[in-house]
Amino acid sequence: MSLRPLISEEQIQTRVREIAAQITADYPDGTLYLICILKGACFFLADLARAMGRDAFIDFMAISSYGTERKSSGEVKIIKDLDISLEGADVLIVEDIIDTGITLNYLTALLKTRKPRSVRIAALLDKPSRRVRPVDSAYVGFQIPDEFVVGYGLDYAEKYRNLREVCILDPDSE
Ligand code: IMP
Ligand code: MG
Repeated sequence: MSLRPLISEEQIQTRVREIAAQITADYPDGTLYLICILKGACFFLADLARAMGRDAFIDFMAISSYGTERKSSGEVKIIKDLDISLEGADVLIVEDIIDTGITLNYLTALLKTRKPRSVRIAALLDKPSRRVRPVDSAYVGFQIPDEFVVGYGLDYAEKYRNLREVCILDPDSE
């Protein structure tokens, strides 16, 4: 299995700090709820939340639209729901990557039914060429080409999540 570096640790950390500063400026007051989509967004959430110059509530949701394979099943399933109510809150969904858009299109609609004040998306990576469903993302770290990537939370069959950088996983060398 071969890994080709795509985004370095330094590039990620710089961009995360930029996004955190933007979020801090965009939400000057009120309670901000960061909703981390497990497991892929865990490192992004941890770095983003600590780089922000404001308080934030943190909760986790686990969703599955991928099995252990590299293509989407097209189905969205909630494995773990939130512990907190979103009523009246500013909600920021923190996700690792927007691929087909099926997950975030579904999730945004679902969370809007829970009467939050606002719902926005922060995604570390975006593969716009793969979009099947529309997704309105307020904060995106990097737009990337249609390649399967791992690292900084992203996995292939649960492997490579703890790489510090984002790498392209070469499918021909398995
Ligand atoms: P979507 O519903 O197709 O947008 O899928 C989003 C989810 O698919 C992400 O949260 C990831 O878990 C997974 N995913 C999509 N592309 C990749 C990739 O290149 N590497 C690892 N996981 C991916
Ligand atoms: Mg994910």
